[in-house]
Amino acid sequence: MEIAMVTGASSGMGKEFVKQLSGMGGLDQIWVAARREERLKGLAREVGTPLRIFACDLTQPAGIGEVKAALSAERPHIRYLANCSGFAKFGAFDAISEADSLAMIDLNVRALVQMTLAAVPYMESGGHILEIASTAAFQPLPDMNIYAATKAFVLSYSRALNREIGKRGVTVTAVCPGWTKTEFFDVAKKDADAGAVRNFLFPSLPQNVVARALKDAQKGRELSVYGIFNKLHLFFAKILPASSVMTLWDAMK
Ligand SMILES: NC(=O)c1ccc[n+]([C@@H]2O[C@H](COP(=O)([O-])OP(=O)(O)OC[C@H]3O[C@@H](n4cnc5c(N)ncnc54)[C@H](OP(=O)(O)O)[C@@H]3O)[C@@H](O)[C@H]2O)c1
Repeated sequence: MEIAMVTGASSGMGKEFVKQLSGMGGLDQIWVAARREERLKGLAREVGTPLRIFACDLTQPAGIGEVKAALSAERPHIRYLANCSGFAKFGAFDAISEADSLAMIDLNVRALVQMTLAAVPYMESGGHILEIASTAAFQPLPDMNIYAATKAFVLSYSRALNREIGKRGVTVTAVCPGWTKTEFFDVAKKDADAGAVRNFLFPSLPQNVVARALKDAQKGRELSVYGIFNKLHLFFAKILPASSVMTLWDAMK
């Protein structure tokens, strides 16, 4: 059985990955994970490929456990893994609760690594892993400090993993979107310091970010950055000291 696995499929970029992967054809099933089951059921009615739904919290051992058990029972051939579950909170270190601070690390880092390790044994040459990082990975970000640090982890982890399992013909692409029109902002502002970050310059559409990411993965690229503004961001983050980029961020955010 040929499958794709997509976390965070109930909205935003994860949902878009499911639609575009289904549109490409050739998959028997797409396995989708997120907490909101009704959303996943709604998506199953929208796309042509059958979805297998895992309505679970991926920060909880039972969530990942359910996916691992299904993998070992069905032993599918995974062609694509897109790890899109993730969230941010806006605000300084003392404006975000400890629970939210740790949950960002648990979901953006721990669950992403767990899903990757769970999937790799079922991937063969020609398989693609897409890890959703962010342009936040390019430098530290005051008022998004933990979020940016989790995404720096994802970027570093993905690039090194790509070298390691590239030898088996599996590619790992770190997808680094800038601001993208999804529910990300509702979550980032809720129970946080909503005004800490106000300017969301040049937002992208999720369908464009995902189309670019899938093309980059198929070309075996280790990095996918959609849009000229985000490419310029990467360029300046490479040539300027991190302290200067943080000063620019503080002036623009
Ligand atoms: N939008 C942006 O501006 C932007 C920019 C750069 C990077 N990103 C990254 O892109 C990825 C996708 O975000 P998005 O923009 O598409 O935002 P989104 O629309 O809010 O989607 C986030 C997804 O994560 C899932 N999720 C949240 N908590 C979860 C949990 N505990 N267990 C399982 N799933 C969980 C949500 O589903 P449920 O709530 O149903 O669980 C949802 O499907 C994230 O990693 C985000 O950090 C976003």
